[in-house]
Amino acid sequence: MAVALSIAVEAMRLADIDAVHEIERVSFTTPWPAYAFEQELTANRLARYVVARSGLTVVGFGGVWLMVDEAHVTTIGVHPDWRRQGVGRRLLVALIDLSEELHASRVTLEVRAGNLAAQALYADLGFEVAGRRSNYYTDDGEDALMMTTPSLRSPEMRRLVAHARERFGRADPTDLEDAG
Ligand SMILES: CC(C)(COP(=O)(O)OP(=O)(O)OC[C@H]1O[C@@H](n2cnc3c(N)ncnc32)[C@H](O)[C@@H]1OP(=O)(O)O)[C@@H](O)C(=O)NCCC(=O)NCCS
Repeated sequence: MAVALSIAVEAMRLADIDAVHEIERVSFTTPWPAYAFEQELTANRLARYVVARSGLTVVGFGGVWLMVDEAHVTTIGVHPDWRRQGVGRRLLVALIDLSEELHASRVTLEVRAGNLAAQALYADLGFEVAGRRSNYYTDDGEDALMMTTPSLRSPEMRRLVAHARERFGRADPTDLEDAG
């Protein structure tokens, strides 16, 4: 396992897509094709994607779509060698920050009913189960849980995000300046 000493979260660039696709390939049963990310970066005005880097290496990624006044997490993944070191938490906080900048009132997502690791990460940042969709995933018919945060401006959500930030420390070069 690699050690996440210093992780930066930045806007995803076209040059990152190969590395992102490789993480997708080892993380998901049905990865997106690489052109889907290119499309998202170049043609979807409502999408924002970020990568987590250790030095020059992309170790994780995630994205949101702004849908009316809600932001929807479309994907999040961390390379297996870099998991359980807070990279997923950093990515999710970055996506929540972006959602707030886009004036979303809350953040929603779908997660496989059996994906307990992701559900634990989401619960850590205030997501709660809001519903279940039967046979949602077309590859194997697994159910999806729909999860949603409280209002991003609620004291509860601000406390959870601040707590998460404390856990990854302010000394790290997390840089979202050009992620909008
Ligand atoms: C879900 C995923 C993104 C988590 O990334 P990560 O970098 O390992 O997560 P973090 O280290 O930031 O974990 C933050 C918290 O989430 C929870 N968590 C993460 N992985 C967990 C696991 N395997 N088991 C239990 N809890 C877990 C814990 O509460 C953890 O805090 P802790 O380490 O202090 O206990 C990663 O496992 C992954 O890429 N999985 C494959 C792709 C995927 O399922 N994406 C989500 C699709 S909806």
